[in-house]
Amino acid sequence: MTLLEIIEKKKRKNELSEEEIHFWIDGMCRGEFPDYQISSLLMAIVLNGMNREETFYLTDAMLHSGETIDLSAIEGIKVDKHSTGGVGDKVTLILAPLLSSFGLKVAKMSGRGLGHTGGTIDKLESIPGYRVELERDEFIKQVNEVGVSVISQSGNLVPADKKLYALRDVTGTVDSIPLIASSIMSKKIASGADFLFIDVKVGNGALMKNIEDARELAKTMIEIGKRYDKKTVCILTNMDEPLGYAIGNALEVQESIDTLKGMGPEDVMELIIKVAGLIVSKTQNIELEEAEQQCFKKFNTGVAYQKFEEMVSRQGGDLSKLEISKRIFSVRSAKAGYIAKIDALGLGEIARKIGAGRLTKEDKIHYQVGLLLNKKVGDFVEVNEELVKVYLDDIDIKINEILDCFVIQEDAVEKEPLIYEIVD
Ligand code: URA
Repeated sequence: MTLLEIIEKKKRKNELSEEEIHFWIDGMCRGEFPDYQISSLLMAIVLNGMNREETFYLTDAMLHSGETIDLSAIEGIKVDKHSTGGVGDKVTLILAPLLSSFGLKVAKMSGRGLGHTGGTIDKLESIPGYRVELERDEFIKQVNEVGVSVISQSGNLVPADKKLYALRDVTGTVDSIPLIASSIMSKKIASGADFLFIDVKVGNGALMKNIEDARELAKTMIEIGKRYDKKTVCILTNMDEPLGYAIGNALEVQESIDTLKGMGPEDVMELIIKVAGLIVSKTQNIELEEAEQQCFKKFNTGVAYQKFEEMVSRQGGDLSKLEISKRIFSVRSAKAGYIAKIDALGLGEIARKIGAGRLTKEDKIHYQVGLLLNKKVGDFVEVNEELVKVYLDDIDIKINEILDCFVIQEDAVEKEPLIYEIVD
């Protein structure tokens, strides 16, 4: 068997066997295959797909490529949350401390940016001093004592995903249901929580562009979860426009802090309350409405923010040193009207180009750059009123590229719902 034969097989739309998938993943982890062959196979999978059985074998091979984490030393209910990724998606930064303020244990491993979508670890690294790598014992101790820790995937946890994730990010091979499902579920099974909640983003700024694909991704992940006896619940949420106003690492941390203090954007608050309410009601057996009320209280009393601060300082971060670029320019509207569309994908790509994300594996993130929207879909904008503030470092961008991301019309606009459905 050779990897080339496997590439040829997938190119012809044939099903790969368990043995072939293991041959690829195991060989790749031993460093036996060049990146160009792995990338070629990834592209064949993007174009020709994998059925549920192949996706399960891929998940399983990835899961067994490294260690799994035993969280049994953590007392209490361990919950984990994951997002399939979007633009301005800072939910983890807010949700993880909020859940821990209910006594739930959040031992969370997060990823870096992928494609045009931002990553929680890049966002956390914008806080000077924040250590995203903790030894296992320190991680477990912190979760037991503080209730929450967010770190990057530990060295030997699903190394196959580390390798594939970095390649997919820069080879146009991100948006594939089997690749996303196996990437997420291998990590989530390996990291050992009792309850898994996945936010499947849908729309122009998401990896899934329509509800049908999002539902298929959700069902695929839930089925994989079942095969490992892991309770998995998915929520399908709108990502046609960016979430909140901030796009870019330090800017998103700042918006998360505002939200934790009860002053966040409406859509961010709505999503957090819905997701946290569901997790709290399902794990603590309380009515959904009551759980949502309790979430509001955690913001208003400052308890959720305190948890965030405690987590950050335990991991060495200094929030007083969070820096946002001082090189700012304002993009203003050429006409008056209602905002009908904000192209989340377009803005995500712009943020990536100015340094908030990576275009090659070697790129360094510019944490302090990004975009701050002044308007959301449905808002009215006057002529010459600000649409976006752009925070730049040393990479410039053309104003028209940003203006092209907005559709402005005379008639008032009806907004799409933020939350579509729950799949479990
Ligand atoms: N998140 C992941 O961890 N992997 C993907 O492939 C997409 C989103």
